[in-house]
Order: sequence, then structure tokens, then C-alpha cells
Amino acid sequence: MAALITNIGELTTNVSRDGDLAGTITDAAVLIEGTRIAWVGPAADAPAPVAGMGTVDAAGRAVIPGFVDSHTHLVFGGDRADEFEARMTGTPYAAGGIRRTVAATRGASDEALRARLAGFVTELHAQGTTTFEIKTGYGLTVHDEARLARLAAEVTPEVTFLGAHVVPAEFAERRDEYVDLVVGEMLRACAAHSRWIDVFCERGAFTADESERILAAGVAHGLLPRVHGNQLGHGEGVRLAVAAGAASVDHCTYLDDADVAALAGSQTVATLLPGVEFSTRQPYPDARRLIDAGVTVAIASDCNPGSSFTSSMPLMIALAVREMGMTPSEAVWAATAGGARALRRDDVGAIAPGMRADLVLLDAPTRVHLAYRPGVPLIASVWKDGVGL
Ligand code: NIG
Ligand code: FE
Repeated sequence: MAALITNIGELTTNVSRDGDLAGTITDAAVLIEGTRIAWVGPAADAPAPVAGMGTVDAAGRAVIPGFVDSHTHLVFGGDRADEFEARMTGTPYAAGGIRRTVAATRGASDEALRARLAGFVTELHAQGTTTFEIKTGYGLTVHDEARLARLAAEVTPEVTFLGAHVVPAEFAERRDEYVDLVVGEMLRACAAHSRWIDVFCERGAFTADESERILAAGVAHGLLPRVHGNQLGHGEGVRLAVAAGAASVDHCTYLDDADVAALAGSQTVATLLPGVEFSTRQPYPDARRLIDAGVTVAIASDCNPGSSFTSSMPLMIALAVREMGMTPSEAVWAATAGGARALRRDDVGAIAPGMRADLVLLDAPTRVHLAYRPGVPLIASVWKDGVGL
């Protein structure tokens, strides 16, 4: 099947040129053939329609690449609305809340978790997200982590084993034994369903030494490393991630100059998760400082029931612009191409021949509107692998 999207007022290709990060083409067209993009350019030069080719008139509106949400925790039971409500009247966020979701998740059947996950996938697609990562981390037994990884793998190839999310209550006095379990039997049970290994390196979760051991074990099983770090305070997460060659270190809320320098000299993406600061009333990470230092920045939702129960990438863009010093174009890049970098994917996050045909038609003339009109549903149409969703 071929389809021509034409009369695009502003096309964001992310094929940067002449200092334009977004690779903008005005009055553009895109030809989709099967699951891939076949041609991109000015509408006036578009290939002539052939029999069987569908045409979509964008009516002067903007088209951007589908969002790449490189950090979510979408397989879980229950919610923690009470915790959110308490936080809004002053109770601080702490990593320990994760254990409540662990209890609810262990108690949920596969069918219940699968149905909930399907609902989230629909929610993501409707908001323009066409690629997403999902972490385990709310099972924390061999059996439960393996089933979360298996369920996540049913809906995305980007599955992350996060057995090292927090030490579960039953191991509270035996944390070394828990780390042994994570790097041993649990990892063996999850590796086949996972592409990534992650660890929450933070006070209240895992130490730098434990984190290093866990990442190394994952790598030895063929998984690629990524890290949760520097969310609740300064710490070793960023330096550990860079040393491990991690694709991404996520949160990066509390960074010292050495962290920024380490990131700038590395291939590790700094993934910022402004939904967390919004929902936990923490100070936002300083994206401007990172970008100015030459760090590659992604933004992601971190959708989870504790620290950020939103899957909205347009909201992340609005927060990144309003609160983190990013320009609208930088924020849209970070939510698309940046996410692709954070997942080491070269087939998504840009609109160019050969890329997957993952596109979003906005109900707006330019991408700036994503930040300019916060909270307004601007997603008119979404294509994933060439199929309209
Ligand atoms: O990325 N930081 C660790 N994990 C999640 C929070 C999970 C929870 O509170 O349930 C996060 O923010
Ligand atoms: Fe997270």
C-alpha cells in the first residue's frame, strides 16, 4: 500500500541541515510505501499519484515524527492516587512507595495486567507515541518479573529488565541476597524477553557498587545497559552510566559539573522526565545547561503510578519548554529523535526515506503549538509502520 501525505504546512524531518535541528520543510509531502517512508520533499516535487495510492490532504497543518517514549513502567496493578494527594499537601516523594505497587502487581492476574496494558497502548497511540519502552520492576520475584517482561514483550520490542527497582520488603534485612537473585535466577528468567538492563541507582534503592554489579551481569547476558540516576539527589548514577557505556541515564535532576562533563564526553543520552518533577513537586532538571554543554538530551514520560502517572509526550514538551529552558524545536527533537537515540534505534525518530513510517499530523500549523497550547489535544492523525491508527 502506498499513500501520499501532501499539503503539509510544516514538516519536521529531524534530518538536521543548515543549523536547523528539525530539518524543517515547508509546503511538503511524504510518500509512504508499505511500512516505510519512500520519499520526502516539497509538495510541488511529489511523485505523481499512481493507481491504488491513497492521498491525505494535511490542509496546511504540521507533521512530525511519531513520539519515541524511551522510559515507561506500564505493567502494574493498582494506583497510588492517595500518595499523590498527600504529596500535594507536603508529603515528600520517596522510592519506598514502589513497594505498594509491587504488592498490587503481584496480586493481579496476567489477564488483568494485559488488559490494562492494552488500554495504555491505546492511550499512547492516541497521543502520538509510536515507539515506547516498558520496564519491569513491579514484580521483584523471579516469577513476577518474568511475567511482566513477557507481557511487555507482547506490545513492544523495547523491554527493560528492572529487577533492581527497589529491594522488596521480604529482603529488607538481606539485600545482598536480593542482588544475588537479580543477577542470577531473575536475570536468567527475564533476559529472553528483554533488550535492556536498568537499575535504580539512588538513595533508598541501590548503591553504586550494587548497580555496577547488576549492569555488568545484564551485559554478560546480552542486555544493553541504561540507568535511573540522580533523581532524588546527587549521586553516582550518571558517572556509573557513562562508565558502563549506557545508552541513557534517566532523570538527571541533580547534576554536578563533573556529571555534565562526563555526559558531554560520552555516547550516553541524558533522558529528562519532567512528568516526575511536575508530579512530585521537585525542581526540574536543567536541560539548557546540558544542551549548552553538548549533551544529547531526550525527554520521556516515565509513565508509572508513583512519580509520573501521565503518558502524554505533548505535556512533556510543554514542561520542557516552560520549565527546563528548551526551545520548542529542541523539545520536539528530544521527544522524537532524542528518544530514538536513547533506545539506540536508527529506524524511528525522523522522517526520511527508509525510516519506519511513524508520523503524526498535528491539528496545528507548526510544532511550536505543542508547547504553545499546553493541554489541548492537537493530535489529528497517527501512522505507525505506515498504518493509520
Ligand atoms: O522512574 N525512579 C524509579 N522509578 C520510578 C518511580 C516508580 C514509582 O514510584 O512507582 C521513576 O520515577
Ligand atoms: Fe522510571
